[in-house]
Amino acid sequence: MRMNEVTAALGRGPAGDPGAPVFAFGGDYNPEQWPEEVWHQDVALMCEAGVNLVSVGIFSWALIEREEGVYTFDWLDRVLDLLHENGIFVDLADATASPPPWFSHRYPESLPVTADGVRLGYGSRQAFCASSADYRRAAASLTRAIVERYAEHPAVVMWHVHNEYGCHNQPCYCDASAAAFRRWLRERYETLDALNAAWATAFWSQHYTDWAQITPPRRSGAQINPTQQLDFARFSSDELLECCRAEVAIIHELASQPVTTNFMGFNMGLNQPVDYWRWADELDLISNDHYLAAEDERNFQELAMTADLTRGWAGGEPWLLMEHSTSAVNWQPRNLAKAPGELLRNSLQHAARGADGILFFQWRQSAAGAEKFHSALVPHAGTDSAVWREAVELGHALQSIREVVGSPVVDARVAILHDTDARWASEIDSHPSVDASNRAETRRWHDAFYRLGISTDIRRSTDELGGYALVVVPMQYLVTDAAAERLRAYVDAGGHVVVTYFSGIVDENDRVRTGGYPGAFRELLGVRMEQFVPLRAGGTVSLSDGAAGMSDGATGIIWSEQGRSTGAQVLATFTSGVAAGSPAITRNDVGDGRAYYVATALQHPHLTELAASIAREAGLEPLELPDGVEVTRRGDGERTWTFVINHSDQAVELPIAGIDLLGAADARATEAVRVAQGGVAVVRSS
Ligand code: GAL
Repeated sequence: MRMNEVTAALGRGPAGDPGAPVFAFGGDYNPEQWPEEVWHQDVALMCEAGVNLVSVGIFSWALIEREEGVYTFDWLDRVLDLLHENGIFVDLADATASPPPWFSHRYPESLPVTADGVRLGYGSRQAFCASSADYRRAAASLTRAIVERYAEHPAVVMWHVHNEYGCHNQPCYCDASAAAFRRWLRERYETLDALNAAWATAFWSQHYTDWAQITPPRRSGAQINPTQQLDFARFSSDELLECCRAEVAIIHELASQPVTTNFMGFNMGLNQPVDYWRWADELDLISNDHYLAAEDERNFQELAMTADLTRGWAGGEPWLLMEHSTSAVNWQPRNLAKAPGELLRNSLQHAARGADGILFFQWRQSAAGAEKFHSALVPHAGTDSAVWREAVELGHALQSIREVVGSPVVDARVAILHDTDARWASEIDSHPSVDASNRAETRRWHDAFYRLGISTDIRRSTDELGGYALVVVPMQYLVTDAAAERLRAYVDAGGHVVVTYFSGIVDENDRVRTGGYPGAFRELLGVRMEQFVPLRAGGTVSLSDGAAGMSDGATGIIWSEQGRSTGAQVLATFTSGVAAGSPAITRNDVGDGRAYYVATALQHPHLTELAASIAREAGLEPLELPDGVEVTRRGDGERTWTFVINHSDQAVELPIAGIDLLGAADARATEAVRVAQGGVAVVRSS
């Protein structure tokens, strides 16, 4: 990962002075929306706030290429020169995210088609099909033209391919996609017999006798073959990845700066299928966009979880927060403004979890267009505004903690598994309960460790797990033989694992592992479940008292199961409903390690108590933190930086000795750090 090249270049500054790396700070800059005199105000204000990196050109295709093959760069030249003269670096886009109207008008078949057969119109953005040869050709030409022009421009420190691949146009069900899907399937299965077997087409008379008969999973009268749906998600991700790869290759051919494309956190489910784990391997640095769900009262925990996932994609190395918002967005039902201090807290949460750059969408709030009510660093109100003052404060804070740049997050001894295939397969229709959600279950477990001050990595099952004290497997519905075997070997060697309900159920073709649930993990867990017993909407199931470190009165939601232990110690049983008497929480000693099974969805505080007792058994030490106080560490082997972020409305004091880099100059050395309500401290200890 090459994030360090970017922070090093920013640290050296435009004159190339020797200097330590610094955090990237800035955002999307769309000067084409403003008259040129505003650009001069922009750069002056960027300097005032300490902005050092802006993403330029993301939605500029229509202005760069006004007719096919005719490029106009004069305005972009002036923008880049102006930024460079003022010491501001550029993350330059290849501008392929939004084909212009002339393109869609000339190539109407490049527009994406929905599962219902509706061809989408243009006039918004990202209106193209990933399999369109016309789109691919035009995107490649545009990329080449832009990179040829700016590869040597001194302002450009990195490249921004496209924007949020798959956000608005995926999956596409058009005829070009269908043909590409068939090619992809031929490569995967080679023979129709193999495809028929994998897709279990004996069911409902779906047997294929010619490749030409195969279509994308277009809307049909009843449920569509689930393996076809799963393969179509895999294909759709690969098809977009082909687009990305082609653009990355052109940039690598012509330029030396690192290349990224911005991911969308957990928004990579079956409806927006992009397998970021696979994509991450192809990029020079990982960047992510994150927006709070404003009405979610624990949205800061969801932020933390997304940052942990992003760090997973980056293989533990520093990454870039490409976008977040200074305050409200414009696309939620009610776009709540951020509270005072929230901008700083959110930003430093990302930094605490490995981000070496904090960028925003966007620099100056648009005066027109669909995003005119989306917040920005420079709001409609101008610089006499709380948002601007908080942005400037953030710039100063990032300067104050710049010594952190480049250091990894330390102390994450718990891994939560989040495999893309498992996520996608779990979201296919016709499952036992619409309430059972891989993403939500992942969040419940992350939240439990978050409350305990125990750092978590989010990894995939093929990653090296040996260094973790505990691995959590939340609703890993689809699991390969190899992944199940790796987990078993991890436990054999002394690891602790927690597997939750609806895990290990199917193989990579979505075929059930018969003989009792949870199929692939049955032996490891020492349980054999006979049937799922999902609960009514809003229903609960009670658990026996006094078990597994939980206080009395624990209840599960969403799910229960009927079955028995085949060797595991039963820590709690279901005591109500159809599953009454069946094990709810079990523990199985295997080799030198332990495997827990949790057959329902638990909630705080019981889930937190259970997580604490399992963590202790795994040799970890949960902290007693006030609710809403977050503690995370980065370190370079000699120094440790502890980020304390207080989302609560109470001041907090924690026994952390060191220097608070954000404290007032005369009160920085501390034996115990005191963090005001809504405040942040970053304490250096050595
Ligand atoms: C992102 C997108 C940006 C902007 C932002 C608004 O998804 O990449 O261009 O639209 O959302 O929140």
